[in-house]
Amino acid sequence: MLDLLVHNATLPDGRTDMSIAVQDGRIAEVTAGLDAPAHEKLDAQGLLVAPHFVDPHFHMDATLSYGLPRVNQSGTLLEGIALWGELKPLLTAEALIERAMAYCDWAVAKGLLAIRSHVDTSDPSLLAVDALLEVKKRVAPYLTLQLVAFPQDGVLRTPGGVDNLKRALDKGVDVVGGIPHFERTMADGAASVKLLCELAAERGLPVDMHCDESDDPLSRHIETLAFEAQRLGLQGRVTGSHCTSMHSMDNYYVSKLLPLIAEAGVGVVANPLINITLQGRHDSYPKRRGMTRVPELMAQGVNVAFGHDCVMDPWYGMGSGDMLEVAHMGLHVAQMTSQQGIRQCFDAVTTNAAKVFGLEGYGLEAGCDASFVLLQARDPIEAIRLRASRLKVYRKGLLLAQTPPATAALHLSGRPPTTGWMIPRP
Ligand code: FE2
Repeated sequence: MLDLLVHNATLPDGRTDMSIAVQDGRIAEVTAGLDAPAHEKLDAQGLLVAPHFVDPHFHMDATLSYGLPRVNQSGTLLEGIALWGELKPLLTAEALIERAMAYCDWAVAKGLLAIRSHVDTSDPSLLAVDALLEVKKRVAPYLTLQLVAFPQDGVLRTPGGVDNLKRALDKGVDVVGGIPHFERTMADGAASVKLLCELAAERGLPVDMHCDESDDPLSRHIETLAFEAQRLGLQGRVTGSHCTSMHSMDNYYVSKLLPLIAEAGVGVVANPLINITLQGRHDSYPKRRGMTRVPELMAQGVNVAFGHDCVMDPWYGMGSGDMLEVAHMGLHVAQMTSQQGIRQCFDAVTTNAAKVFGLEGYGLEAGCDASFVLLQARDPIEAIRLRASRLKVYRKGLLLAQTPPATAALHLSGRPPTTGWMIPRP
């Protein structure tokens, strides 16, 4: 007897009438039209069942702090960093944990079951590090939280920055972060990349750096990051986040850079909601979009994922933990409007993000964790278009969340009142 049998499902790759058999928290079988005895049966009614969403780039120490102690007036990255600096002395572990836990609830409701969060290590107290390590422990039964040691104020620029970051890693933070474009000079930025990659190699840890989050076409730390990844044999374990300066770089230089990133096995995370909000702020008109070169990187074989980055914090007052909203913005900003492009944007918040994360047991194949989402949509394109309701969210075979289908009641003159779905049923 199976624990759970989902039947009549459409999968992201287009297969229809598929059954997913679940036993002991894992997928036992994925077959067309299978019927078998099960404790629980779920008729997907031809709707999309996808592996859960993964956010490869977030800041959980700052989330839901919007307005504390004031709102970012200019809307720039630099005012956001200054504002975070004003908020830090006011932070308490209790309030930070409460906000992070609330965000994780939102995430689960949206089918987002794995989040890589940067945590600021600049403050020697490491208050945020301890708080998020506690959150990681508390949410572990239902959400995988991975932490990146992130020296927000610059690992070299901050007195004691290297020591603070090492102590965060000693406490159990999973990934080495960095912010080379925020160091005082280009030379210091490059030195920070080398130092942090060497530290990661020594400790056998992955690397995920905020890299070139700038409109300055000469901010080229991604080149150093790729070089160091190759030199130290870190292929497949290194991620460059944001890489927005690539938007403004000279095309000839980029034609040399992209193959280097691909050869070095470096992944790239774009953050469409934040990049379109924060970049181009020093421009008059025309204003640059600022997001990195997503389709070109993908065409080179680079693993590109999309992150949410911020939700209601000093940098961004919007957001709800909805990775379909992230994909929706991503496809607009990158102009990835072909059918293939839209599907690639869905992958960017699911399979590609899981690869950045290094998530084991991810996917819809026999042997994978039975962690998936039933969406009120017939395929990934419709899911993004509608930011579809997450009708059911399962993790390791257990139902974690459900949302009723979106419906509307219409009262139109000359016609009887009707209530129905806003999309055609399959
Ligand atoms: Fe970030």
